[in-house]
Amino acid sequence: MTIETIKENDLVFLILDHRRRWLLQVKSGDQFHTHKGIIEYDDLIGKSFGSVIYSKPYEHQGHKFYVLKPLPSDYVVYMARKTQIIYPEDAGMILIYSGIGPGSVVIEAGAGSGALSCILGNFVRPNGRVFSYDIREKSIKRAKKNVEKAGLKDIVTVQYGDILNDTLNHVNVDSIVLDMPQPWEVIEKVKEYLKLSGVLVSFSPTIEQVKKTTFALRDNGFIEINTYELMKRSLQVKENATRPEVRMIGHTGYITFGRHVYDEDNPYREKKPEREEYIDISDMPVKGNL
Ligand SMILES: C[S@@+](CC[C@H](N)C(=O)[O-])C[C@H]1O[C@@H](n2cnc3c(N)ncnc32)[C@H](O)[C@@H]1O
Repeated sequence: MTIETIKENDLVFLILDHRRRWLLQVKSGDQFHTHKGIIEYDDLIGKSFGSVIYSKPYEHQGHKFYVLKPLPSDYVVYMARKTQIIYPEDAGMILIYSGIGPGSVVIEAGAGSGALSCILGNFVRPNGRVFSYDIREKSIKRAKKNVEKAGLKDIVTVQYGDILNDTLNHVNVDSIVLDMPQPWEVIEKVKEYLKLSGVLVSFSPTIEQVKKTTFALRDNGFIEINTYELMKRSLQVKENATRPEVRMIGHTGYITFGRHVYDEDNPYREKKPEREEYIDISDMPVKGNL
């Protein structure tokens, strides 16, 4: 059994119960206050991930908290955010259907809270790169902070960049991921950055956006254009009462994919005759009077 111990600056996922759970960065000398008591970060340092800690003060008998190593899905759901984020299940589909993996070079716009940037960064490790752009200083600041917290600042670069109007210095990237209000407007420009056979991904909450994006992908010669929607339903598991949960997130967004190709005319197609060909009918028998 491998035991990983918690160190200063590590991110930990602290769980009290089904609803109350936090993503925290360990800071020696500091405390985390909950309504069920205080967690001293110094008490966490040296403990192993996957253990428990009891809140102080002990005279109130403490409360049990589980301390786990965060998963990429925990980063996304529990990180500080102000913009709408991409949910883990959608991110999973983006990864699998785009082929983004270790070594991939990816452009992302916009960065938003950096939720998707962290997931992409986590999967392109150790030698891939993510270049994430946004036009809002607040988003850039927040995304940078989240990327840094996730320990991905050498892999993910968050910077100012208007994907619609700026000419960004990229060639032959493996994938471009768009999560912004008007993706259809940028397709003509960003396809220049994408390598042939590379995948463009667009995440949009509405069908109107999907239609415009699909038409723009077609107009720009993309193939394999497909849009999907995922719905995740949790199950409540109880003795004699196992069934889907009553509440669920009914809609996140639609994910559209397209492949970049270089199209050519068919060289084998017969050339048209240069002169028009006539059929001579002068010797043909003719019925009736002319
Ligand atoms: C929904 S948020 C992205 C959320 C992000 N995927 C996440 O997981 O946190 C959309 C972002 O697109 C940015 N944006 C809008 N137009 C843009 C443009 N032309 N270039 C770059 N970013 C843009 C917005 O500022 C906003 O932060």
